[in-house]
Amino acid sequence: MKKFFRSVVVTGNWKMHKNISETTQFIKELAPRVRESSARILLAVPYTAIFSAAHEACKTNIEIGSQNLSDSEEGAFTGEISARMLKEAGAQFVIIGHSERRRFFHETNELVNKKIRRALHNHLLPTVCIGETLEQREAGKTNQVLQSQIEESLKGLMPQEVMKLILAYEPVWAIGTGKNASPEMAQEVHAFCREVLTRRWGQETAEKIVIQYGGSVKADNARTLLDQQDIDGLLVGGASLEIESFSKIINAQNVNITC
Ligand code: PGA
Repeated sequence: MKKFFRSVVVTGNWKMHKNISETTQFIKELAPRVRESSARILLAVPYTAIFSAAHEACKTNIEIGSQNLSDSEEGAFTGEISARMLKEAGAQFVIIGHSERRRFFHETNELVNKKIRRALHNHLLPTVCIGETLEQREAGKTNQVLQSQIEESLKGLMPQEVMKLILAYEPVWAIGTGKNASPEMAQEVHAFCREVLTRRWGQETAEKIVIQYGGSVKADNARTLLDQQDIDGLLVGGASLEIESFSKIINAQNVNITC
């Protein structure tokens, strides 16, 4: 059963793309195209653009967020950015544990757990990314990897905290490669994630948490992915950088009110 009690959430992850003026222009053009969408629309822009983006988006149905945060409240951490700073700049959510951060910046499940706690403490909605590499998939370890990512990243959180989060399943081999998981393959993994969540945090939590799929989502595969019972939204990288493709993805779910 789905979509009666879980909202559809589409998130754009811009990574290290677009400056302030490109960001505000994009939001100006995107807003009228997605005004009627029943999806919740989130856009994770670079730090420098958060303030202007939040200002531009304040009268729209687009929410602005960050792609990372520090696990510390404040202190001598050169180059880091705190939850409080992000919140003040206008961020409403934050992506945590993206595979690029895990891979290039050595983020572990333990650090992801600290960052989630920091975000929740500062009323930023965490989008927590998990996903297996190609090597892990080929070795038949997908479920094992995802289970430990979920259990360790969300360790010690209360069910009420977990049900508020967004979980994003992004197979690493599908990110930016043009190879996306088939809707059936993604559905199988999403259902497994809900099983893990049920075992640890109970059925209500598992039914309420939004689980997005990410990895080479495009305008032409968005709808079939969203049609899957346990896929509640999409985390979109490359295709969120163009108005045309991102608005089509956001609007793909309008014709998708099923149960
Ligand atoms: P992609 O990126 O859509 O370009 O594959 C997704 C992501 O990294 O979140």
